[in-house]
Amino acid sequence: MPITVRPAEDSDTPALGRMGAALARQHHDFDPQRFMLPEDLEAGYRWWLGKELKNRKAVVVVAERDGEVVGYAYGRVEGRDWNALRDTCGGLHDIWVEEAARSSGAGRLLAEEMVRRLTDLGMPRVVLMTAAKNVPAQRLFESLGWRPTMVEMTRELTPKG
Ligand SMILES: CC(C)(COP(=O)(O)OP(=O)(O)OC[C@H]1O[C@@H](n2cnc3c(N)ncnc32)[C@H](O)[C@@H]1OP(=O)(O)O)[C@@H](O)C(=O)NCCC(=O)NCCS
Repeated sequence: MPITVRPAEDSDTPALGRMGAALARQHHDFDPQRFMLPEDLEAGYRWWLGKELKNRKAVVVVAERDGEVVGYAYGRVEGRDWNALRDTCGGLHDIWVEEAARSSGAGRLLAEEMVRRLTDLGMPRVVLMTAAKNVPAQRLFESLGWRPTMVEMTRELTPKG
């Protein structure tokens, strides 16, 4: 079945909550100290992404196959950030494809739709962060024209008191 991408709707929020939580769990598994795992992840993502559906400066799109949502991407307009030395740009924050639907082009379609929509919002570039261990995602992004620009490093501390 072909995969299609469309803007997310209110009725997608249960699927968005489930997939957002899965993305957070994946990151926690990469590095449990760096990536937090709050309680009630699904409800948190349902609330946040449901809210972002109404934000004109945010983009939430879903991939569908055979009438079923199999992936999503979330991005938004980000303002100038002096700490990051990053001017106003699009930020691609989440992209997830259900395991059973991977390697069929859904990730590429979601990323390309995000790029189109952030371009339409006037953005000159799209910046994303990807976990150091997430080689498949890095390969996809590089194949679509993203270049590596920052390396985040984390050191654990023993807090005083
Ligand atoms: C990263 C992720 C979104 C990619 O999604 P995907 O749907 O598998 O991506 P695509 O199918 O578009 O591309 C992946 C591979 O399938 C291949 N492919 C693309 N279209 C294809 C098609 N029609 N038929 C067969 N293979 C295809 C691509 O060449 C690519 O191959 P490669 O990995 O060897 O480079 C997905 O693996 C995922 O959800 N991972 C977990 C979440 C995650 O890591 N998100 C990124 C956070 S930064």
